[in-house]
Amino acid sequence: MKALLVYAHPNPLSFNAAIAATVKEELEKKGIEVKVKDLYAMNFNPVLSKADLEGTHTGNVPADIKAEQEDVRNADIIVMVAPIWWYSVPAIMKGYMDRVFSIGFAYEYTESGPRGLLNGKKGLIITTAGADEKTAKETGLDKVVDMGIAQALFGFCGFSEYKSKIFYAVPMVSDEERRNMLSEVRNLIQNFA
Ligand SMILES: Cc1cc2nc3c(=O)[nH]c(=O)nc-3n(C[C@H](O)[C@H](O)[C@H](O)COP(=O)(O)O)c2cc1C
Repeated sequence: MKALLVYAHPNPLSFNAAIAATVKEELEKKGIEVKVKDLYAMNFNPVLSKADLEGTHTGNVPADIKAEQEDVRNADIIVMVAPIWWYSVPAIMKGYMDRVFSIGFAYEYTESGPRGLLNGKKGLIITTAGADEKTAKETGLDKVVDMGIAQALFGFCGFSEYKSKIFYAVPMVSDEERRNMLSEVRNLIQNFA
């Protein structure tokens, strides 16, 4: 089994960094080979350009995207880790989605509608929010990651199984609560991967 861990946080001392390290450790405990995409460390170019778009339609896919697609293709499970920024993920991760999960690779349009091409894979997105759970439920924040990534990306691209998880009020909770969150991450990986 192979996993791709796609991680986006500029600060290596952040809670998201701790989540990503925990995910990697738990996957490896299960004997799963993990390839890490630390998008900030890679200085990943997140801008889907006119040339990129034309390339995906003509089959002339830019080399940097091709390499990322190869890693997605080789993975049985993809785990994404990032904070929620303005009801979404950081632009660098959004750009990874825009550029890597392109038409012809991740999905296609057929006479009967769009069809995902990444069948058989599992996808998991783990995010953190500043908002507490009650506020998130009142404002709809609790749904954005499931709709915007689990369903919109993993579901649309034909993944066989997918899940999302938000940890709430991360900047406000105690260290003990954050340790409990990391235990939850461990359980999540043990049960999902
Ligand atoms: C640019 C930016 C936008 C943010 N937008 C939101 C938001 O829309 N909703 C929310 O609950 N928290 C938001 N936050 C708070 C972060 O989600 C929170 O600080 C982060 O999840 C904590 O994890 P970290 O310590 O690993 O950064 C935002 C933070 C930043 C820097």
